[in-house]
Amino acid sequence: MRKTVIAGNWKMFKTQAESEDFLKSFLPAVQETPTEREIILCVPFTDLNVLSRNLHGSRVMLGAQNVHWQDEGAFTGEISPPMLTEIGVRYVVIGHSERRQYFGETDETVNLRLKSAQKHGLTPILCVGETKQQRDRGETEKLIAMQIERDLVGVDQDNLVIAYEPIWAIGTGDTCESKEANRVIGLIRTQLKNPDVPIQYGGSVKPNLIDDIMAQPEIDGVLVGGASLEAESFARIVNYH
Ligand code: 13P
Repeated sequence: MRKTVIAGNWKMFKTQAESEDFLKSFLPAVQETPTEREIILCVPFTDLNVLSRNLHGSRVMLGAQNVHWQDEGAFTGEISPPMLTEIGVRYVVIGHSERRQYFGETDETVNLRLKSAQKHGLTPILCVGETKQQRDRGETEKLIAMQIERDLVGVDQDNLVIAYEPIWAIGTGDTCESKEANRVIGLIRTQLKNPDVPIQYGGSVKPNLIDDIMAQPEIDGVLVGGASLEAESFARIVNYH
């Protein structure tokens, strides 16, 4: 049985005070959410401690947005797996297109990060997706297949979430048509050794679209940017019909 996984990716938004405000409205709004839905908040490093304290006893899981492959060392600006697990982080986004585009993340570093996260008991959320140009050139399938192949070398598919995030749909309001997202996600699944890996869709997911997205048979959840910043809209997404 594939798990349903709904995750918010706050990216570089919210101070600690703002994240506490968010939780005050969000936690009561997800109290009745069916228990089989995994709810995750992937937040900036400085917010992790605040959330860790406030999520104690709640069913919302804590996620980070990056992790290094070494346990410690001279890697200015990075964060290690034990630093995350010590404060109760369970999930970590790896290979987000913003890290690949702006911070030189490659399939090789993504692969290292995935393996080290798993070694420490974290569940990675691996992001893959094509640019508008790649889609227009008809390269979507080839590109995604290549990312999956390279990123997953030696990775344990029993402790993994994948997010299909077409880059042209991220932060643009230009959502990928849900049937098309379903198609690409189905293709990703054919490439996996474990067909039960939950595969999410991400890219301009909004409350008015969520019911249609979640009705697609291959889509096991969503990775939400902008709409996860507001308690009411993220709660509506988590409580999809
Ligand atoms: P938006 O929902 O803001 O388009 O962001 C999607 C995303 O990148 C989630 O990781």
